[in-house]
Amino acid sequence: MINKVHTGKRLSLLRRRLGYSQAALAELLGVTAQAVSKWECGTTLPDIELLLMLSRLYHVSINSLLEERDLLQELTGQAAAADGVAYFVPNTETPQEQAWAEAIIHNGWIARNWQSAQEQPDPVRHAVGTEIAALGGTILEIGAGPGGGFMPYILKADPDAQIIINDLSPTVVREWRKLLDRALDSPNLSYAAFNFCHMPLKDSCIDVISDGGGIGNTIGSKAEVLRECWRVLKPGGRLITSTGFVTRETLAALPDDTQHVLREQRPDIFEDLYEDTVLAGFTKIDSVISGCWYTDGDESDIADLARTLGVNLKFTSYIRYCTK
Ligand SMILES: C[S@@+](CC[C@H](N)C(=O)[O-])C[C@H]1O[C@@H](n2cnc3c(N)ncnc32)[C@H](O)[C@@H]1O
Repeated sequence: MINKVHTGKRLSLLRRRLGYSQAALAELLGVTAQAVSKWECGTTLPDIELLLMLSRLYHVSINSLLEERDLLQELTGQAAAADGVAYFVPNTETPQEQAWAEAIIHNGWIARNWQSAQEQPDPVRHAVGTEIAALGGTILEIGAGPGGGFMPYILKADPDAQIIINDLSPTVVREWRKLLDRALDSPNLSYAAFNFCHMPLKDSCIDVISDGGGIGNTIGSKAEVLRECWRVLKPGGRLITSTGFVTRETLAALPDDTQHVLREQRPDIFEDLYEDTVLAGFTKIDSVISGCWYTDGDESDIADLARTLGVNLKFTSYIRYCTK
């Protein structure tokens, strides 16, 4: 079935890309501006003659105006399930993640995070999301999590952005789909639950990988994720990743026994992943320190450990721009 709203959004995007106003296009086609507005709102479809004129003007096929594109089918060979999510992992949570997934639903974290990105944007995520939106192309948001990484900010800058939203958690991906269907109903969003250490994507098919803290919280090997990111990016494609770590200075200022416990139990919090990024194959790597955060008031495992050790641990955050 033709989704008139999605066809309208595609028509509107193509018109804006050519720099036409609705009135200018209407004049060119010999119709009223109101008719163009109705197509673009999804109230009506252009008739067959006009579709032909539009397809010639925009250099696209009539099919691509009317048909839903299944991007994940093209890039992975697997279509989405009936709920609109492509599952490459079981569609139910593991016992370890069950309580967390239920909390995401019951506490409405996804809706709350979407809302705050719209109304009280985090300045760093806002700036980086805007940069990613300007790069354009096919964007893969990995480990979207309940915060969505940079995705809410990319969509704020460009509601027509083409984004594949990923997480290992099927609940996270499903909940984002439900929310974004209500909030945007964009034909350019796809949803895929997979392990980003073993992406089901073809080589060299993604323009930008966006990561707002997913790699830093990898379940699995971070070196492996970085190698996978390099593999699926097109030559010249970019991985834009943000995470945080505990610097040598911060560690040295802690009591000796606290240093010892942290080194033993959480060696990962001292990694800045630069070496793994180089070894993955990225040639140009630029890092920008974006601020810091403290474990007091945080709900993560490392924050719990810091509390039992009686310290408020400082994490230095950075954004890293890596080019394939
Ligand atoms: C703690 S969240 C934080 C970052 C998240 N982008 C946000 O803005 O909320 C980390 C996310 O990475 C996901 N994740 C961890 N390991 C993963 C993997 N191997 N593959 C895909 N997603 C993973 C987790 O399920 C979680 O949702």
